[in-house]
Amino acid sequence: MAVLASLYECIAEPLAEVRRIFDAQIRSDVPFVNDLCEHIARFRGKMLRPALVLLTGQACGRVRQEHVGLATVVEMVHVATLVHDDVLDESDVRRRVPTVNHLKGNEAAVLLGDHLIAHAFRYCNGLGLPFASDLIGRTTNTICEGELLQVHHRGDWALTEEEYFEIIGRKTASLTATCCVLGAYYAGAGAEVVSALKQYGYEVGVAFQIVDDVLDVVGHQESTGKTLGRDLEQGELTLPLVHYLRHADPAGRAEALGVLGNGHLGRAETIRRLLSNSQSIDYAMGMACERIEQACRNLDVLEASAARDALAAVADFVFYRQQ
Ligand code: IPE
Ligand code: IPE
Ligand code: MG
Ligand code: MG
Repeated sequence: MAVLASLYECIAEPLAEVRRIFDAQIRSDVPFVNDLCEHIARFRGKMLRPALVLLTGQACGRVRQEHVGLATVVEMVHVATLVHDDVLDESDVRRRVPTVNHLKGNEAAVLLGDHLIAHAFRYCNGLGLPFASDLIGRTTNTICEGELLQVHHRGDWALTEEEYFEIIGRKTASLTATCCVLGAYYAGAGAEVVSALKQYGYEVGVAFQIVDDVLDVVGHQESTGKTLGRDLEQGELTLPLVHYLRHADPAGRAEALGVLGNGHLGRAETIRRLLSNSQSIDYAMGMACERIEQACRNLDVLEASAARDALAAVADFVFYRQQ
């Protein structure tokens, strides 16, 4: 996280305020609920989405109070979707600690996710920013559509690249794009800049999810801090495997389909071995690299500033990250 702290240097103060508001907003006077909220608040993630709101705001002018509030809201939405995602993916570890579903079961995790989403919308509504409320509401719908599509395609070994990109565009890139729109819009940027930064956020999000999916296959739990191999265990194809199934030699393809098809626990291990000896991981990382380059080209609309440099550095971080 030291790398991130240096990337976030020019927004360190507002980001600290986001953390304080987040913690205060989700407090509950029901002790059992409050314990869970404290668990959520104590173990912080990379804060990428709030950082995108603040950095784009700063790069288009300056960080205003609206940005701080909205950065808090997007982190609330993100965390709520993670709590639910860990139920869907049956994940036990997130941010280096046990998930809510692992600690308290699926029912509690579903309800806590609902609780957090309600907090996000209530707090957002209180900011009195109709454009943001509408955009964040729509984006949350889009994220749910992405997660639903992914569940729908479980066990679909014929998933195409196009379908994969639709899923990750919705579940991940929609939110990073929205963060950048909010940052630019509430700094008073014109339509052209808002649109360029939306594109930057979208491409960063796509690359982020590709890298996440690669790490799910070949990463290490000690660095990512979360349960890996879940996509494979849940029968969800991601870019490396979509590529492998299309391009592997017949024997490799048959072996992969064999372990996928009989659904036995531990299929992640076999697939990991097959993919590690193929070109498919490099292919996926090549796609992520292209998306990062596309993202950064959109930053040309901005005047030179520390915040613009930080946005470019965040894009690079997304590609090289191991966490
Ligand atoms: C995880 O997001 C969910 C994905 C979109 C892959 P992050 O990796 O940004 O999660 P935290 O907030 O840092 O824990
Ligand atoms: C994250 O998806 C959830 C959302 C984007 C809503 P993943 O299941 O791919 O992410 P991790 O790997 O659990 O963080
Ligand atoms: Mg997951
Ligand atoms: Mg998932």
